[in-house]
Amino acid sequence: MAGAPLIIDCDPGVDDAIAILLALGSPELDVRAVTTVAGNRSLDSVTHNALGLLALAGRADVPVFRGAARGLLPRNVRFSFAHGDDGLGGYEVLPFAASAGEAHAADAIADIVMAEPPGTVTLAAIGPLTNVALAFAKVPALAGRLKRLAIMGGAVGVPGNITPVAEFNFMHDAVAAEIVLSSGAAIDLFDLNLTRRVVVTDELLAALEAGGGHVALAAAAMLRAYAQRDLAIHDPCVIADLLAPGLFGRTARRIAVDYRPGPTDAQSIVDMDPASTRPLVNLVDEVEAPAVLSLLAERITRLG
Ligand code: RIB
Ligand code: CA
Repeated sequence: MAGAPLIIDCDPGVDDAIAILLALGSPELDVRAVTTVAGNRSLDSVTHNALGLLALAGRADVPVFRGAARGLLPRNVRFSFAHGDDGLGGYEVLPFAASAGEAHAADAIADIVMAEPPGTVTLAAIGPLTNVALAFAKVPALAGRLKRLAIMGGAVGVPGNITPVAEFNFMHDAVAAEIVLSSGAAIDLFDLNLTRRVVVTDELLAALEAGGGHVALAAAAMLRAYAQRDLAIHDPCVIADLLAPGLFGRTARRIAVDYRPGPTDAQSIVDMDPASTRPLVNLVDEVEAPAVLSLLAERITRLG
């Protein structure tokens, strides 16, 4: 049976890399494209990493499309230290032949989704949301046509990881985050309150290294470096939920994102106004973390 069509919009990034490998190791999913957005590192760097990861997994057939080099409103947001200077924790991808496609990521996302029947394609957005917001602006019907839009971002009622109130992806493009969260798309939001519960463990690393294949060993090496600065593996939660939704719980909430420059910039807030017309999203707020880690190890070791 063919897998469920999936587009991954990302900024690899070690946890993005683990999310991509999890998806590629899971036959339930058919990765139709990987689109890139500047965030953890520059657009050139994250695109290079995406191409290298697909080659590592033997999936150079999956097309890559470059997207936004910065957010919709200019923000001086530093790169993330957690991923190292190259974005993959010092893991150097082997030389590869593929190059990114000509289309902009926003156009590629829209083209793939609009070519399929409504409710067919899932979009996993695990970097800043600039490409998704651009795609929604270019093709207004896109938001309602997605089967699901699974987002890693935000810090709802918990401290941020780039400012006291803001999470990294939302901080890179708070306007895009607000546009996307108020779009009416079928959204599952994985914020820091959720993803901080899924952390790199010695057992996960041992399981990957015991698997022995070059992909699993690369994943372990990336995670060992990443864990020196951030133990939480945020992005793979999004893919794990597509594979095993029973491992997660969720609550319908209206989430607003503050995009005014200043101390509350990019803060994600629950809109409790009973008169609010803001669309509901599913705030993912429960996870069986050990089972998620087991799934990660089992699927990534399948890649060799
Ligand atoms: O805040 C965590 C998010 O920011 C993750 O997507 C990580 O890859 C970085 O992009
Ligand atoms: Ca990311």
